[in-house]
Amino acid sequence: MSEAKKLFIKTYGCQMNVYDSERMAEAMGAEGYTLTDVVEDADMVLLNTCHIREKASEKLFSDLGRLRPLKDARPDLKIGVAGCVAQAEGAEIQRRMPLVDIVVGPQAYHRLPALARATGPQVDTDFPAEDKFDHLPERKALRGPTAFLTVQEGCDKFCAFCVVPYTRGAEVSRPVERILRETRDLVARGVREVTLLGQNVNGYHGAGADGDWTLGRLIRALAEVEGLERIRYTTSHPNDMDDDLIAAHGDVPQLMPYLHLPVQSGSDRILKAMNRKHTRDDYFRVIDRIRAARPDILFSSDFIVGFPGETEEDFDDTLDLVRRVGFGQSYSFKYSARPGTPAAEKTPVPAEVADSRLQRLQALILEQQRAGQEAMVGREVTVLYEKPGRQPGQMVGKSDHLHAVHVADATGRVGELARVRVTASLANSLSAVRIS
Ligand code: 5AD
Ligand code: SF4
Repeated sequence: MSEAKKLFIKTYGCQMNVYDSERMAEAMGAEGYTLTDVVEDADMVLLNTCHIREKASEKLFSDLGRLRPLKDARPDLKIGVAGCVAQAEGAEIQRRMPLVDIVVGPQAYHRLPALARATGPQVDTDFPAEDKFDHLPERKALRGPTAFLTVQEGCDKFCAFCVVPYTRGAEVSRPVERILRETRDLVARGVREVTLLGQNVNGYHGAGADGDWTLGRLIRALAEVEGLERIRYTTSHPNDMDDDLIAAHGDVPQLMPYLHLPVQSGSDRILKAMNRKHTRDDYFRVIDRIRAARPDILFSSDFIVGFPGETEEDFDDTLDLVRRVGFGQSYSFKYSARPGTPAAEKTPVPAEVADSRLQRLQALILEQQRAGQEAMVGREVTVLYEKPGRQPGQMVGKSDHLHAVHVADATGRVGELARVRVTASLANSLSAVRIS
């Protein structure tokens, strides 16, 4: 009997890539591949790439360079490149790196098994009409009580800095019934929390029995699924926070009080240049409306510093916005020109200037994060246990507000929702003891 073939996957970038990697692992599972963490043991290596920020393709090419000795020793080793770099650079990857057997874009993953069976170089970066998820096998390889679930892909917003509309394509929403089915199936297999994924998830407009549904309506239907305790969604655009979705934050108990709502900049001038189609006041207003529905909600955001034309004054507006909103957590990035995007034509801000702004912004973000965590000390919170901790008698999981929490609990079980009291704030997590 021949041994099962082994697949090694490296995932770069966002949560959607994590989800896609799982689905590709399932698809290859049906072909007799099992996953391995040891690249030397693999019969197939798949690099699931990200193109959103700097150095993505350089990282890919250096990883591919490191695979060369393996490929030289075992020419039958299959090497595949998936994800947004595959989409953006297509056949160019194989021209530069002939060791790559397969290049597959994010919308063509259901064709991966066929590409892997074929001989000779294969490139598939089409945007096919069919839904790739209909052609991927059911999810089996679940790890733990939380799962990502892609409900929407692509983006029509065309922010001036962003490659997503080009690499992931136009907005497409999965039909309601498929999402409900996948959710019920996940819950039947022990999942208690789902995070709905989409590049512009609150722009969701999937087909339901009576026309298109909004994300708010989808969330209300998911809340009816017995056994599903928690619902989250990411990533959202401020302009697509409609009344019903905001109301859901107030009246759907399963919808967790944490929202990632990227603003990118606090300067109206830069927001305009970024083609964000909202002002800083629009952002403040939407934050106020959500807080009115769910007063204890925590917000996180993404920021870009050093966007072409950003002055010190513009940057001060960003710091001011951060102070006024008060974020639980945030991600900040130095602008990097993405080929093919409108902003890439503009003169960049000098690197030292961008570096200094990034440092100042990150210091403020960290200060807010620390203060937010400190404020949790002494409070009782609910934690969904995801796995045992490193220390004996310890469980780790997330609070409703998405804080990572280490809980002293010798008898806790993965998948349990535990009431705990927070005892200390650590660098990126909280410590707690179980109380019931
Ligand atoms: N340069 C820097 N950061 C970027 N992002 C997207 N494109 C760029 C770019 N060209 C950031 C945005 C986005 C996050 C996922 O990545 O802040 O919200
Ligand atoms: Fe990119 Fe988000 Fe803007 Fe869409 S809304 S173009 S994904 S930054």
